Amino acid sequence: MFSTLQPTPADPILQLAADFRADPRENKLDLGVGVYKDSSGLTVIPKAVKQAEAQLIEAQDTKSYVGLLGDTAFNDAMASLVLGEHPADRLSAIQTPGGSGALWILMSLIAKAKPGATVWVSTPTWGNHRAIAAGVGLSTRDYPYFNPATRAVEFDKMIADLKDAGPGDVVLLHGCCHNPTGANLTEDNWITLTEMALEQGFTPLVDIAYQGFGDGLAEDAANLRLMAAKVPEMMIAASCSKNFALYRDRVGCAMVLSSSAAEAKVVEANLKTLMRISISMPPDHGAALVRMILTDTALRSVWEDELTAMRSRMLALRQSLADALRERTNSDRFDFIAHHRGMFSLLGATPEQVDQLRDQHGIYLIRDSRVNVAGLKEDRITEVAEAMANVGL
Ligand code: LMR
Repeated sequence: MFSTLQPTPADPILQLAADFRADPRENKLDLGVGVYKDSSGLTVIPKAVKQAEAQLIEAQDTKSYVGLLGDTAFNDAMASLVLGEHPADRLSAIQTPGGSGALWILMSLIAKAKPGATVWVSTPTWGNHRAIAAGVGLSTRDYPYFNPATRAVEFDKMIADLKDAGPGDVVLLHGCCHNPTGANLTEDNWITLTEMALEQGFTPLVDIAYQGFGDGLAEDAANLRLMAAKVPEMMIAASCSKNFALYRDRVGCAMVLSSSAAEAKVVEANLKTLMRISISMPPDHGAALVRMILTDTALRSVWEDELTAMRSRMLALRQSLADALRERTNSDRFDFIAHHRGMFSLLGATPEQVDQLRDQHGIYLIRDSRVNVAGLKEDRITEVAEAMANVGL
């Protein structure tokens, strides 16, 4: 049976996390996997989550099945968090194990509705986007996104390529905090893309995994909301891994806006079937916590304050690293770090320089030179900037 299998390559992000764990050096620094760490290097459980968890353990009297859609009050709360005001009759939502679970079920739905559909992805994009599309039998096509010279979005090139996207095609966009570049589309860019979707008939799929990590909860969803208000069909994959720090509990939500209420019912039935044949039912615990936090005024306010603190700290770390690099390199070419948003920026280092940072300085970045600013520590910024200058950045 298994003799026909070929070895598969390890996911580079997860491999780097394993390499980091195995490194015995005490002063090592993990700027790889997208996990938020506080100034002592810990990924703490937010107080809001701890409080909700205590309440849940006290109140929960059964672990019986919830249902194929998961916790529907969680789905409603997520739809409001991401979409704000929305046409509920045209929306189908299903609770998923993390944002990847949402991407998997949405891409499976695309494959079911339009076998052989093409998913357009940005160059570069998060590695799992292409992998999940391939896993469900969809092909991907790249569109230009990031200009490594300017460290900004090259929107003219992006829309020139997307002119070829038509009905039956899916265009995958990052809702905010682009992974891995940190360079984001402007409101005007989103308006243009919305007009293109309307004219050309492609369907947007928006991955929003970092809501609240860029400029604020509503701010980070504003562009996606503009689009959702105009297009007849749209898919959204939302993750609660980062903004609720529920990484290992696997909490996400897949949402589909259909062109009519009747179609939304059929979409929902298909999402349920896909859930049933894959993992049968989504896990409850983490989603129950998110539902409690989003629907309870006191818990929500604790969570929003904690999210604000994480975001402010990331922005401050961005500014400090940009300042330190300005000083060390005697140039402004790293100012983009302060302008980017979210956890990541692409530094523009060569793979060899990334290896040198790891081998000589114990600093771990993804080999495409993605840096996770949320892995930095305030008291090591100077040292990191010096190491970067040292390897010739
Ligand atoms: C990342 O990009 O580092 C995170 O989204 C974690 C992951 O699963 O890759």
